[in-house]
This record gives sequence, C-alpha cells and structure tokens, in this order.
Amino acid sequence: MLDIRTQVGIVGAGPAGLLLAHLLAVAGIETVVLEKRSREEIAHTHRAGILEQGTVDLITALGLDARLRSEGFTHHGIELRVDGEARRIDFADLVGRSVQLYPQQEVFTDLADGAAARGLDVRFEVTDAELEGIEGESPAIVFTDTDGARTRLACDFIAGCDGSRGISKRAIPDELRTDNFREYPFGWFGILTEAPPSADELIYAHSPHGFALISQRTPTTQRMYFQCDPSDDPDRWTDEQIWDELDRRTAAPGFALTHGPIFDKTVIPMRSYVCEPMQHGRLFLAGDAGHTVPPTGAKGLNLAAGDVSVLARALERHYREGKGDLLATYGATALRRVWKAQHFSWWMTSMLHTHPDANSFDNRRQLGELDLVTTSRAGSTYLAEAYTGWSLIPTAPGYLDPASALGEVLASQLRGSGDMSPSR
Ligand code: PHB
Repeated sequence: MLDIRTQVGIVGAGPAGLLLAHLLAVAGIETVVLEKRSREEIAHTHRAGILEQGTVDLITALGLDARLRSEGFTHHGIELRVDGEARRIDFADLVGRSVQLYPQQEVFTDLADGAAARGLDVRFEVTDAELEGIEGESPAIVFTDTDGARTRLACDFIAGCDGSRGISKRAIPDELRTDNFREYPFGWFGILTEAPPSADELIYAHSPHGFALISQRTPTTQRMYFQCDPSDDPDRWTDEQIWDELDRRTAAPGFALTHGPIFDKTVIPMRSYVCEPMQHGRLFLAGDAGHTVPPTGAKGLNLAAGDVSVLARALERHYREGKGDLLATYGATALRRVWKAQHFSWWMTSMLHTHPDANSFDNRRQLGELDLVTTSRAGSTYLAEAYTGWSLIPTAPGYLDPASALGEVLASQLRGSGDMSPSR
C-alpha cells in the first residue's frame, strides 16, 4: 500500500469537487481530488446549461471566466408560454439580475484546465475508492491509482462530491441518514439539434400536450426537451416524430421552431432528493452527492456552487482561524439553501408539466397558477428571484470576513458583477 497525505481529500472531480479544490487553493489549503470517470467522459456528458449570477461571479473571482464570457450568453429573462400565449418574466426589471447560458460540461472543462494550470492534484480514472475512519480524527480514502497501485490517502477531512450515485453518502450510517426522495411520473426527452436558435431566450412551454423547453447552445445548435414517459426509449422516436411533438407543444401565433438534424437523444428521469444530514464526522457532502433536483429550475450546478462556497469558508475558518464553528454547522447551513431550491424546482416542475392523473380541476388550477405567476408582480418576482438565485453563502458572522483569503472571492457574488455580454 502506498501512503500519501493531504489536508482535504475530495471524492469526485465534477464541478463541485473541482470548484472546492480551487476555493481551498485560494485559502492555502492542500487537496487531492479523486475521480472514477475519465476527463473525456465528464466533458462529454450533456447537462443543464444555466448559471445563476452568483455562480458566474464565483467563477469570475477565481479567474476562470474567459470562455464563459466569450462563448456564453446573458439572459435577462425567460418566456413562460401558456397554451400558446407568450408571458415574459423580466429578471432585469423584477430583481436586477440575470443568468448565463453556458453548459455545465464547459464549466467542467474550464475548472479542469484551471486546476492543471494551478498545479492542483486531480486524478481521473482511479478505481475502488473506499472511505475509512470518517468518525475518527484521521480519515482516509483508499483507492487504486491509474498505475494499479493501491493507495491510502490520509487526510484531515473528506469532501464527498461524487454525485448522486457516489460512495460518499452511503458512508453515513443508515440509521442516522434520512433519504428524502420523490420521483416524478414523467421524464424529459432531451435533444441536441444543428439549427440556429429559435428564440433569444429560453421558452418554458405549458401546453395541453405536455411540457416543452426550448433552450440553446451555440449560434448553430439548440438544446430542447419535452415531457415524456420516463421509461421511454429514445431510439423509438424518429426525428419527424420529435419535431411534431415539439412543434405542437410550442405552437404560438407567428412562431416557428427552427428544425435541423438531431444529433443527440436522451431520456432524463426527474427526481428530487435530499440526504440529511449532509455531514457526518469528518465527511462533508456537497453537490449532487447530497441532493438532486429535477432540471426544470436549472439549479443543480448552482446548488453545488453554494455548498462548496460554504464548505470552503468553513474549512478556511478551521485552518486559519482555529475555529470549528462553521464546520459544525456546515450541513445545516447548506441545507437551508438546498431546501429553498428544492421547493423552487418542485414548484416549477409541478406548475409546468401535465400530470398523467390530472383531472379538469387540476388542469384549470394549474392555468390559474400560471396566470397568477405571470400577471402579478409579486408572483413573477418570486420566480425571478429564485431562478436568478439566492446568495451562495449566508451573510451570518464569520462567512464574509474581509481579512480571510476567501472573503474577497465570496463577497464578489453578493455585489453582483452586473451585465455580462454578449446578450441573447
Ligand atoms: C439547458 O439548456 O440544458 C437547460 C436550461 C434550463 C433548464 C434545464 C436545462 O431549466
């Protein structure tokens, strides 16, 4: 067995794990990041594409925003399309904030390139990782490195950033862990198509035929989704059938989707999940390892950014100021933001999708709700505030200490970096 040591061992090199490693590097805290998948596999997994303004500000404060600014697009609002009628939610007017369309796998690439440039120890394609001694003073991650060497990484703390199917959360004993879980009776059929954007902003369409979402990727490609049976087989659908379905769900006077060849088809299940607690002994969960949201609110990556901001500052407080207070309350602090976003994601999902068992009361009630949200300033302000995102960290004492190395980085997202261009 090869023995190595670091301060914080991070399981998982997705956006949560890499973002945490960057933040800890700013605080002068050493990490080793271990990942089961290859870099290429993560970089080629399609995920949602909306970054809250605070997430953009955090990436900017880390100096990793060059591509996000040149290739991403600022969106100042979204359209809710209610049975063919366009109702815009104007984020800029309602809450003075915006979001950035920039796919998660691109964020991953920027974080991974930045990690290499910073000299961070990130190891892809390690296997058979196991957590040891998380209830004691000296936990460890035992794993097999790419050269086949069984290795023991001793550390002070372990951050479980290994996603919804990772090993970390299962290290919290069953009798102490509550798995708060809900599965929806529908999924999303996602496509990528080679055709220029159909609209300047995202369209979330409610229709009698079910939900559809029109998103974008680049000036020549689009991402679209429509509500489907979660057990559907993507290969059962021809391009023509897919376009028929998307066209009828988004139909509106004077509107036409731009069609093109479909080059990717997937069925995405819809789940809500929160693991409680999010910490146990010296193990701290962050990102999808601790919670999952259905994609309707585009909250996944943004929740991870919040978790790791809180965790990084708590670890800095421990190492630099000798205080364990923020580490002791990490899970409870992270969970407050997580549960707000869980509610928002559930609410958007419930408001926009057609439930298979819905009767006429349910359908009419849903239309009443959409009417309220799109015509009342109070209603649309809630949507705008939640969609553009809450502060990544609390303003409670200890979090924003200007004397700390991370204070400046974390405060940046409270000020807001304002407009980002180009706008679309
Ligand atoms: C996407 O562009 O992939 C996307 C956008 C918004 C969502 C979900 C996914 O709510």
